[in-house]
Amino acid sequence: MNYIDDLFNLNGKVVLVTGACGQLGSAICKSLEQTGAKVVGTDIKLNGKSGDTDLRELDITSRADVENTFEGIHEQYGSIDVLINNAGVSTFEKFEERPEKSFDWVMDVNLKGTFFCIQSYVNLLDQHKQESGAIVNIGSIFGVVSPDFRNYTDLNRKNSEVYGATKAGVIQMTKYFAVHLADRNIRVNAVSPGGIFNPENPQGDDFIKNYSSRTPMNRMANDEDMLGAILYLSGDAAKYTTGQNIVIDGGMSSW
Ligand SMILES: NC(=O)c1ccc[n+]([C@@H]2O[C@H](COP(=O)([O-])OP(=O)(O)OC[C@H]3O[C@@H](n4cnc5c(N)ncnc54)[C@H](O)[C@@H]3O)[C@@H](O)[C@H]2O)c1
Repeated sequence: MNYIDDLFNLNGKVVLVTGACGQLGSAICKSLEQTGAKVVGTDIKLNGKSGDTDLRELDITSRADVENTFEGIHEQYGSIDVLINNAGVSTFEKFEERPEKSFDWVMDVNLKGTFFCIQSYVNLLDQHKQESGAIVNIGSIFGVVSPDFRNYTDLNRKNSEVYGATKAGVIQMTKYFAVHLADRNIRVNAVSPGGIFNPENPQGDDFIKNYSSRTPMNRMANDEDMLGAILYLSGDAAKYTTGQNIVIDGGMSSW
């Protein structure tokens, strides 16, 4: 193995992915498996979409369940080298009509759930005196800029203020923990995708056209566009990189 291969080598590493059965989560699991990593996926609902990944049911809004599941995985695999906080939800009512329970749900999954996962992971590493770790949080372009509502001519899934606020929170939490955990040799970074085309539940034709025309690279993202940065941040190539948010949006936030 030469120096460059070592930088990107995740062979044998244990990687835990939350939200593993969703669109992006299943693509992350499949790509990690191709690197030879041991991939453990968790999701509130299992659907077998994540290839050969070892899947466990887990609602990340329950601290006790997160602790127990993470402990079980550590016991079985002997370590958790990388945690990928990918589980996330949004809500799509008009904001004027948003019920409190929708707001709370998005806060609970995106912010509190991500926090519980980081807390349990770090406590577990401390307890087992694991010498290093890495966390990759999935943020969003809409944690950085607001959606352009002119795009949503035929799409009823308008991004919500609470979604953007929680994703901005995830990006800030990334910086907080990068600083707080640096002396424990745990790196914390984020990847913030732009709008990802969903082949199973496509956004409207007009939305896709509008969104693309307002993106410098003139298209929506695909799942695969996110994988390089996630693999990079998971491994030794990023060993001096912490507290960063890589925005993968085809240039949209750079206009
Ligand atoms: N799709 C996009 O355009 C886009 C853009 C930017 C960021 N993101 C982010 O990427 C991540 C993945 O999104 P996706 O598009 O694959 O969505 P998705 O809905 O396909 O996947 C999300 C997964 O999270 C799981 N989940 C929901 N609540 C949970 C809970 N309480 N505990 C555990 N798992 C739970 C769901 O069951 C689902 O499998 C999310 O954090 C999302 O905010 C997506």
